[in-house]
Amino acid sequence: MRGRSRVLFAEDENRRGVGHLKLKARWTSASLKAMDTAEKVDWATLNAHAAGRPARRLVARAITAAGGDRPGGTVLDIGAGAGADSLQFARRGWNVHAYDADDTLASRLVENERMAGSVTFHHTDITEVTEFPPAQILYSTYTLGLLGPEGLAETWPKLVAALPRGGVAAVDMFGINDSWAERGDIATLALEEIDEMFRDFQVIDRSVRDEDGRFLADRKHWHVITTLARKRS
Ligand SMILES: C[S@@+](CC[C@H](N)C(=O)[O-])C[C@H]1O[C@@H](n2cnc3c(N)ncnc32)[C@H](O)[C@@H]1O
Repeated sequence: MRGRSRVLFAEDENRRGVGHLKLKARWTSASLKAMDTAEKVDWATLNAHAAGRPARRLVARAITAAGGDRPGGTVLDIGAGAGADSLQFARRGWNVHAYDADDTLASRLVENERMAGSVTFHHTDITEVTEFPPAQILYSTYTLGLLGPEGLAETWPKLVAALPRGGVAAVDMFGINDSWAERGDIATLALEEIDEMFRDFQVIDRSVRDEDGRFLADRKHWHVITTLARKRS
């Protein structure tokens, strides 16, 4: 360890054998057969390609909403992928608990030793986490819908419980115009349903991506609703 830099790995979850293989097995089973691209989803490859992308602007907006850089503050990054956003939070002094079933991020932690904060990587299936550590920021992009309707319904209250009053959520959900609305294993929600999830929050900002695009090699309509909100109670 050099200076204040810290990179951590949640060995407990890795040793348990992890959700990675389990998840792959689950996703290549019947639950995915409705989608052409399903068998092609290889998060490790996709995350490896995304590793060099810049951090999303949502990171800076979440930090501002949480009162600015806060050494020692904690962030949950749910479905961290290759970790571009987790690492940006850590560069700005935050301690991040990054969760993902794919372990692309684990190798990147070694490359990023000079961070003011830290990233603790939890290599696990998010739906199997019983309790999340307390955090001032809950952050998640392009992931919560992938937990499926049941997984999201079970996981969301645990994520909200991790936030204190005044804590900030910066998360997106797939909307009903999304191509994945045809799939039973992905949660796609109407605006009213998203508002209901945020009933204990003051919504600070809402942005919507509703456009044709691509996912891997296939065309896809993206309907992604991003909410920045502060917990009221
Ligand atoms: C579309 S990627 C998004 C990655 C990153 N948040 C971003 O915006 O670039 C979705 C990520 O969620 C992870 N994921 C999906 N379902 C998961 C689950 N049940 N448990 C853990 N990770 C999951 C995948 O491994 C993948 O890295």
